[in-house]
Amino acid sequence: MNPKAVLFDAYGTLFDVYSVGLLAEQLFPGHGDRLSQLWRDKQIDYTRLLTLSGRYRPFWDVTRDGLRFAALRLGLPLDAMAEDRLMNQYRHLSAFPENAGVLAELKKRRVCTGILSNGDPEMLAVAVKSAGFEGLLDPVISVHGVQRFKTDAAAYALGPQALGLAAREILFVSSNGWDAIGATWFGYTTLWVNRAGAPLEQLGTEPTRTGSSLRDVLDFFPIP
Ligand code: LAC
Repeated sequence: MNPKAVLFDAYGTLFDVYSVGLLAEQLFPGHGDRLSQLWRDKQIDYTRLLTLSGRYRPFWDVTRDGLRFAALRLGLPLDAMAEDRLMNQYRHLSAFPENAGVLAELKKRRVCTGILSNGDPEMLAVAVKSAGFEGLLDPVISVHGVQRFKTDAAAYALGPQALGLAAREILFVSSNGWDAIGATWFGYTTLWVNRAGAPLEQLGTEPTRTGSSLRDVLDFFPIP
């Protein structure tokens, strides 16, 4: 059965979270890669910690918290100006090169195409606009409404609620292996876009399909 709609994860899937590494390298030569990786890991770590403990802070704040921790951990002198520059860069992340073409093709094929993300509505709106994706993604769904981060079921439930479809009728696409597995557990049809050639999470579950670029989404939606 072909899915009837597609929902994308945002950070890491549509927007390249490691594209901040270049600025990080300029600010802290020799540490850009490590800082951007630890920043990302800590940001996601904090989302889980908060949701597991029944607490919530918007993803923008969690992102700043993760950056502060990563800088402390690496012993880097993150002053207010460096922090603002990195956070501003995070607001305007680069998109992966094939993404605009894939989104335009989905629109041409009349596929309902949206986002389901941990990002809060304001940061998602800025990211979508600065990547030039306005008019290509609707709905843009944020977990902010339920104040629980993925992989909580309440977060994934927002997709079927917004689209009026069963989860299995929606293709959920993520480059984050853990997110693809969480969505599979929830019941979505899933595509893990494994750009980095990462190993599969060893949790006894596989996504419906694994690909290497966003172009692999198009195989689920043949030209009518
Ligand atoms: C998101 C994070 C998980 O966009 O990347 O939901």
